[in-house]
Amino acid sequence: MTASATTALAYPPDAVSGRAPALLAVRQLRLTDFRNYRQLRLDCDTSPVVLVGDNGAGKTNLLEALSFLAPGRGLRRARLDEVCRRTRSDETSSAQGSTWAVAATLDTPDGRVAIGTGIEPAKSEGGLPRRVVRIDGRPAASQTALGRHVAAVWLTPQLDRLFLDGASERRRFLDRLVTALHPEHASDVAAYENAMRQRARLLGEGNRDPHWFTALEDIMARHGVALAAARADTVQRLDAAARLGIGPFPRAALAMAGETDRWIASMAALDAEDRLRAELAAGRLRDAEAGTTCNGPHRSDLAVRHLDLDLPAAEGSTGQQKAVLVSIALAHARLVSMSRGRPPILLLDEIAAHLDSERRVALFDEVVALGVQSWMTGTDAELFKPLAGRAQILRVTDGSIAAT
Ligand SMILES: Nc1ncnc2c1ncn2[C@@H]1O[C@H](COP(=O)(O)OP(=O)(O)OP(=O)(O)O)[C@@H](O)[C@H]1O
Ligand SMILES: [Mg+2]
Repeated sequence: MTASATTALAYPPDAVSGRAPALLAVRQLRLTDFRNYRQLRLDCDTSPVVLVGDNGAGKTNLLEALSFLAPGRGLRRARLDEVCRRTRSDETSSAQGSTWAVAATLDTPDGRVAIGTGIEPAKSEGGLPRRVVRIDGRPAASQTALGRHVAAVWLTPQLDRLFLDGASERRRFLDRLVTALHPEHASDVAAYENAMRQRARLLGEGNRDPHWFTALEDIMARHGVALAAARADTVQRLDAAARLGIGPFPRAALAMAGETDRWIASMAALDAEDRLRAELAAGRLRDAEAGTTCNGPHRSDLAVRHLDLDLPAAEGSTGQQKAVLVSIALAHARLVSMSRGRPPILLLDEIAAHLDSERRVALFDEVVALGVQSWMTGTDAELFKPLAGRAQILRVTDGSIAAT
């Protein structure tokens, strides 16, 4: 099946000219004691992968495993110990296995890269398990190093409520999109949030030592402005891409809404840092009383408009909201492909739900044309028929996977 004319207009030049698209593809995936997978080895080619299977088979678990190849807490934001495979005897004793591992070999623009991640058991009684990352066999200082090789973006049924839920979900979604373009973004967010938590703890304890606050607010100002600048850059570029629309997917407009975002837009970065530093210092008493930090980019929101309806995205129907989300994810994949020369891996859980057949087919055409390795799941193999011959269609059964 070929792409429709309207869709082709929006394709990146590489796909139109027929040159090989940018590449990022998992070629082999190995799981050990990961959720309901005891041992799995899956070899794949670079084309999209479809995972079909009954409820509870392990489809979302597999996408979660792939999400651990990129920086962050994965698609379910699970605690590290929740991911370890539970067995029946664990359920009765409430104990759980103590390690899990995800290992993958990927084709990237830098050549083959081997990534391994998982947890190491706690080193001492009462200690916490630790996430470890290896790249080409060498330990990485932190999981942020993964961002240089892999970006992953996911759409899950939970994200169907993205425009209705609170701003924190939207920021998290946005921060994943930003990290795909600016790999250092994840560490700016972590440093900012860590300093903010420490400052809140000091305020809660009644500590008023200005030296501590000045040091923490300096970290918050530097990382806060850096992360807000990366968000602003991403949103501006993504807005331009999403305004084009893709085939039957709606045109969308994106903008940042927040105090720090207004400063970023209207003053130099160093001035914005000074401004945030000053606001935080002046707001100590107020924040202590409120029990929350009132200034900073953790208060920002992503505003999305459905341009074809001329309405905020939240005011569209369930299916229209989903279509906007898919539109943004596709525009983002295209943008990242073009600007970083490597697309993100797209993890599309239950993607066929809420999409009518025209949009489903358009989505399949687009992921094939973009050359992204998308991993899609569903309970009904029939819905993926338009991908026959263009994707690897696999059946998941009770923690094992076979070709259909
Ligand atoms: N830590 C764990 N150890 C063992 N099994 C687990 C663990 N966590 C989740 N499971 C089980 O894994 C199974 C598969 O879950 P998953 O969410 O991947 O299913 P799915 O194929 O996506 O199903 P659905 O179509 O309903 O979304 C479930 O039965 C779940 O209870
Ligand atoms: Mg699922």
